[in-house]
Order: sequence, then C-alpha cells, then structure tokens
Amino acid sequence: MITRERAGRIPSRTTKRAPAPAARRTWRQVRARVRVQRDYGAGFRWLELDLPAGFAAPVAGQFVQLLLAAPSPVLLPRPMSVASVQRAAGRLRVGFLYAPLGAGTRALAELEPGDAVHVTGPLGRGYPLDEMGTPVLVAGGRGVAPLLMAAEALARARRRCEFVFGARTSELLVGLADARSRLARAGGRLHLATDDGSRGFHGDVVRLLDTLAPRLAAPLVLHACGPHGMLAAVARWATANGARAHLAMESVMACGTGVCRGCPLPRSSEARAPVLAQPSEAAEAAALKGNPEWAMCCTDGPVFEARELDWDRVE
Ligand SMILES: Cc1cc2nc3c(=O)[nH]c(=O)nc-3n(C[C@H](O)[C@H](O)[C@H](O)COP(=O)(O)OP(=O)(O)OC[C@H]3O[C@@H](n4cnc5c(N)ncnc54)[C@H](O)[C@@H]3O)c2cc1C
Ligand code: FES
Repeated sequence: MITRERAGRIPSRTTKRAPAPAARRTWRQVRARVRVQRDYGAGFRWLELDLPAGFAAPVAGQFVQLLLAAPSPVLLPRPMSVASVQRAAGRLRVGFLYAPLGAGTRALAELEPGDAVHVTGPLGRGYPLDEMGTPVLVAGGRGVAPLLMAAEALARARRRCEFVFGARTSELLVGLADARSRLARAGGRLHLATDDGSRGFHGDVVRLLDTLAPRLAAPLVLHACGPHGMLAAVARWATANGARAHLAMESVMACGTGVCRGCPLPRSSEARAPVLAQPSEAAEAAALKGNPEWAMCCTDGPVFEARELDWDRVE
C-alpha cells in the first residue's frame, strides 16, 4: 500500500514520511445547531454550525456527514467538506461552503439559526500538509474553501503557500474577496486563472502551473480540490513533472465510514500491486475488507495521492 499520513499536527518541515498509522476511529455523532446560514455569491451558501464539546477538530481535507432532522426529504446524510474550524467557549464552530443542488442540499439551505442538524465526523483523511516541498494549493470553484483552511494550517506551521484559484469565468471565482483577505493573513500568494480570461491568467489552472512552476523551489507538493476533471489534469501534470499531488475526491456516499462499500474509486495498478502480491492468507484477509481494485472514497480518502488512483477510470 502507498503510505499516507494524517494531517493533524504539522511540524514546520519534515524530511521523511512516517509509515501510515493504523486507521483510528475518531468520529462521533452529535446534534449541532445552525449558527449562520447566508448567501456566499455565485449560487453558493455558507453554513456555520455550533458543535458540542467532545467533537474532534477536523483538519483540512476531512469531511462530515450532515443528516437533516425529521421530517426530511432525504433518508441518507450528505457529505460536506469542512471549510473552517474555530473554537469558541469550549465548543467548535465549523463552516461549510455548499451549493443547493438537489433535495438534500436545498433542504439544508432552508435551515435557520437555531435549527438542529445531526453531524457525524470528522471523517476521512485530510491533506498531508507536513510533506516536504513548496506547498502549491490548487482550487477549482467551491474547492477553494477547504484549501483556505489548509493555507491557514500551513501558516500556523510558518509555511507560506502558493494558492492557485481557477474557474471558468470571474463570476465563478467563489468568495474571491474572502479568499484574498484570508490568504493575506496567512501570508499565501494568490494566483488567479479563468478559462475566458476575464480575471487573472487566461487559461486553466494546469496551464497556469506550467508558467508558475519554473519560478518555485522544487520539489513541489500540490494539494488540490475541485471538479474531478480538474483533479485528473492536476494529477497527470504532477506525475509528468515529478511533483507529488494530493487530490480531494468526491463520490456519492451512504455511510461515510467504510461500512457500505458504496463509494468506490478505481485504484491504480501501482496501488493495487502490493495488495495483490501479499501471501494468500493476507490477500484473503484484505479481500474481506473489500476488493483491492477499489479504494473507498470515505475512508481511504477523500484525499488521495495522484499515484493511488487510475485517472483514466475516475468519473
Ligand atoms: C467528501 C465529500 C465532500 C463534499 N463536500 C462538498 C462541499 O463542501 N460543498 C458542496 O456543495 N458539496 C460537497 N459535496 C457534494 C455533496 O455531498 C452533494 O452535492 C450532495 O450530496 C448532493 O445532495 P442532494 O440531496 O442535494 O442532491 P441529490 O439529489 O442527491 O443529487 C443532486 C445531483 O448531485 C449529484 N451528486 C450527489 N452527490 C455528489 C457528489 N458527491 N459529487 C458530485 N455530484 C454529486 C447527483 O448525482 C445529482 O446529479 C461533497 C461530497 C463528498 C463525497
Ligand atoms: S460511503 Fe459507505 S463505504 Fe464509503
């Protein structure tokens, strides 16, 4: 298996990756209260929840499952990336940037301050922000939110980041003013790109990486969040350019905790090989945990290193 780390504590610089610790269950289910629900522009909403004491603080790249209180139009919880975490009077205040798309997220948008939501989390593996190299954060659309949290975590570890933010048009650079002020405080450098050239670099984020990379100290470590097409392009760029890339993936989910096996993503042959090469007893034990052809987005991810997935088969 390719080794991965949790991104909880961030030493200022490390030279070597530690072996992946055994997955530790840290999530719990709590009843939260809506604190803020507001428009965020470009069709997006900002939601902030107050969580009771005892809920572990999520790290950048992790997500929670939000389950609406009954009566609800949807049976299953909806996965949502954590966009901000603050502590206030012993409680956690957790923010989310979301788009009301279907029945679940539209019902979420109806909630008002004081309403209750059931929250399960923190879930999944976040960005390994302690990896050695120049951190380059690459955001597409609403992917900006968890990466601003990553920029702030890097700043606390006294590391500056390059922040590449792209969208099809300037109107779709979600929450640009907020991104500017948070990055200014975190000491990160913002690079904008739009497909139509209406703001910043004229072209997509990968073309912008082509022009930016030669000016940065190698090795580059990319941390990206955005549509799967963009993430596949960033993964291929990293592989071709000798950089590492950590991509926050999405999948339709049910349990969010590895039980239902319902959020598969195709493993690369490189990531499958060590699992398949195990002695038959170990391979059988691994098979009981699921088919090694597939990684589970919720527990193996949602953040994956580029070489872990088969990008030709990612939808
Ligand atoms: C780890 C993770 C983190 C996420 N973080 C965010 C976030 O920060 N902000 C946000 O707005 N959304 C996020 N999503 C996506 C969000 O969970 C879905 O948009 C939501 O579940 C849709 O629910 P719904 O009931 O509104 O729509 P549904 O009626 O269930 O679906 C509406 C449409 O959205 C599609 N859809 C459902 N789930 C996903 C998905 N995961 N990815 C892409 N398309 C989907 C459906 O196929 C359908 O076309 C995340 C998903 C995952 C897995
Ligand atoms: S959502 Fe159930 S295993 Fe991932």
